[in-house]
Amino acid sequence: MSEAAHVIRKAAELLRQGRLVAFPTETVYGLGADAFNEGAVRAVFEIKGRPPINPLIVHVSGPEMARRVVADWPDRADALAREFWPGPLTIVLPRASARSRLPAIITAGGPNVAVRCPDHPVALALLFEFGGPLVGPSANPSGTVSPTTAAHVRAGFPGPEVFVLDGGACRGGIESTVLSLAGDVPRILRPGLVSAVEIERVLGERVELGGEVAGATDAPMESPGLLARHYAPRTPARLFESREWPDVLEEEGGGRAVVILIGHREVPAPHVLLAMPMRAEDYAARLYASLREADAAGAERILIERPPEDSALWEAIADRLLRATAD
Ligand code: TXA
Ligand code: MG
Repeated sequence: MSEAAHVIRKAAELLRQGRLVAFPTETVYGLGADAFNEGAVRAVFEIKGRPPINPLIVHVSGPEMARRVVADWPDRADALAREFWPGPLTIVLPRASARSRLPAIITAGGPNVAVRCPDHPVALALLFEFGGPLVGPSANPSGTVSPTTAAHVRAGFPGPEVFVLDGGACRGGIESTVLSLAGDVPRILRPGLVSAVEIERVLGERVELGGEVAGATDAPMESPGLLARHYAPRTPARLFESREWPDVLEEEGGGRAVVILIGHREVPAPHVLLAMPMRAEDYAARLYASLREADAAGAERILIERPPEDSALWEAIADRLLRATAD
């Protein structure tokens, strides 16, 4: 057996024992556990420090496995899976009945469950070897920057509780689009790599954008990816407009800054430049690693040039940056 196959076998065995296995996907690394093992799922919430009101995505090898956790697999879901799976689209549907093996905490006690089939050879190999659905929130402590390398995962969870499958850097870089098919009108709860327009083209119907902003009411949040502050570095960070450059460096109460620019420009000492790619796809793939590098530079502030919002992917990037810089 090849080395890779051996490691996948070991990981699947650990999952069967109720242990946690972090795995690469095409978006970010996920923290995997047997979705039908309540103790293992609880351990995921615990180690992430994730509020129990925030439901988990269930990762599946395809529609067949998805059917084991949903009440019904409608035509709309089938059409979307045909087009986008494996890939960065998470579909929210009414969950399988309370009598099913799906623990209530996965859905935060709610009536719907989120399913997605990741487009990564290691994630798919793990799902096939394990043979069942896996929960997979991003493999980072709750609220912090999502991991796009195995080293990022280990930095968040250095202990032996998490076995990490190393699949290199994730090529997508931001999390999947979360689409709810639980209501009458399809609704995007979290923007991501698959756009509303692409979904509308497949469904042949209008897609609504946005859910309730969590924290605004006492109602359970529909998708805490919508939390105002999320994906956040530790260093105070703020967005600035391109026209504020370079005056923004001189602003009051300033100090040494890490400046995240789109493309390259001269940045005077003692400030530090992190030059980002100009293409949205490349920017997204670099985003979280850059936020981590900015944190590691030990500066007093992070200044991020506001990106354009002239495409769905730039909008999804802007969504993450707004949450990373929220108070
Ligand atoms: O790309 C991704 O989706 C990554 C990789 C690992 O697959 N996973 C990920 O998981 O980002 P997490 O837990 O960090 O974010 C899951 C998002 C949250 O915003 C959560 O609230 C929402 O999906 N979600 C999960 N279950 C839901 C449900 N039943 N109804 C509504 N939203 C749900
Ligand atoms: Mg997350």
